[in-house]
Amino acid sequence: MHIAMIGAGYVGLVSGACFADFGHVVTCVDTDPDKVDRLNRGEIPIFEPGLEDHVVRNRDEERLFFTTELPEAVAKADVVFIAVGTPSRRGDGRADLSYVYAAAAEVARNISGYTVVVTKSTVPVGTGDAVERIMRDEVPGVDVSVVSNPEFLREGAAIEDFKRPDRIVIGVEDERAQEIMGEVYRPLFVNQAPVIYTGRRTAELIKYASNAFLATKITFINEMADLCEKAGANVQEVARGIGLDNRIGTKFLHAGPGFGGSCFPKDTRALVETAREFETPSRIVEAVVTVNEARKAAMAQKVLRACGGSVAGKTVALLGLTFKPNTDDMRESPSIAIANALRAAGATVRGHDPQGMEQARRVMPDIEYADTAYACVEDADAVVLVTEWEAYRALDLPRIKELVRVPVFVDLRNVYRRAEVERHGFTYVDVGRG
Ligand code: UDX
Repeated sequence: MHIAMIGAGYVGLVSGACFADFGHVVTCVDTDPDKVDRLNRGEIPIFEPGLEDHVVRNRDEERLFFTTELPEAVAKADVVFIAVGTPSRRGDGRADLSYVYAAAAEVARNISGYTVVVTKSTVPVGTGDAVERIMRDEVPGVDVSVVSNPEFLREGAAIEDFKRPDRIVIGVEDERAQEIMGEVYRPLFVNQAPVIYTGRRTAELIKYASNAFLATKITFINEMADLCEKAGANVQEVARGIGLDNRIGTKFLHAGPGFGGSCFPKDTRALVETAREFETPSRIVEAVVTVNEARKAAMAQKVLRACGGSVAGKTVALLGLTFKPNTDDMRESPSIAIANALRAAGATVRGHDPQGMEQARRVMPDIEYADTAYACVEDADAVVLVTEWEAYRALDLPRIKELVRVPVFVDLRNVYRRAEVERHGFTYVDVGRG
């Protein structure tokens, strides 16, 4: 099967490399010549475990190609995936579909023979219809089927998620395209991956509903954490106690500083807008968006309280800046809101992250950075563990105690046990373990 992947961003690159690994011939198209050159040299623009190996191996075995030339790639493709960005539009929070639409028009002009065009980008319900319309307007009589095939890849575990998915969702309106999509994903059926064939609009909605539900789960447990703190209960045990009910499930019930990343914040906002547009507002998802935003700011207040009510003139060390471990992605990371609020309250903020320093410097040019976790905590008045990187899970607490000015440890991910941190002479603050 010849596949063209339009967009060599996170989703396009991971999907393209994995499809190639399953034996398809994949050409990834990107408008950024610099990125394409780097990829052709085997340099990966993002940090994702296992991705470099997949890219280099499949490139060397001539199943994976990178180019800026869309026409050639599309002309020889049986299936074209559109995996370009759908960022939040400034102002109204809706998904910006201009890249998707531009790609659709260009694809229409360049296909030869019957082609399945698949939107892999996260797009609001109804976008598949719009993509089809655009293609037919662009080239009357164009021989395409438009399919929706959302991705469910977690950053840091994307290759594994692609190869062993909980489910594959294919929104398709005709049998011919359904058969071809079955061929595209056939290599995964060996792993018993369940496939859901459904309507295009349903598939589009599954993606948003799925992310919004997970975001709701996190937000719910975060609220319970606040209640636990006041009521003298332990949120981790509450999470386990409810999670063992199969109807609830144990996953995505870790209380913390609020969700961030490239998907949940953007997709919950977009779903709120879609629901309003259809005049069926989702008050639950609206609440999730608001509560999660407030939570990030509330985490800075937690640090402030741990510092005796003021951080003015004090130094706060942030360990972990990315929105979660195993990524270099800083998008909508809680660390940004926390750092901003602490700086506004007069603190000097110093950060460290195992992978995210380069990105962090770009989005937070005004904080200090340290090369190691230990250099980060030097002379600090509070150490805040923001992201639960493995490298922070067994910190040398006696060494940190020696280095800091004031031994205050705020653990926003509940990585440590109170007794062990306190034993080393720290004031310890965690999340929801009253
Ligand atoms: C998510 C979805 O999981 C994935 O299916 C979708 O395709 C894209 O969005 P990702 O953004 O990579 O993936 O990260 P995920 O691991 O889901 O975590 C998202 C955020 O929620 C992180 O900020 C994380 O710290 C937070 N989180 C997650 C919690 O605070 N508690 C939890 O229990 C789980």
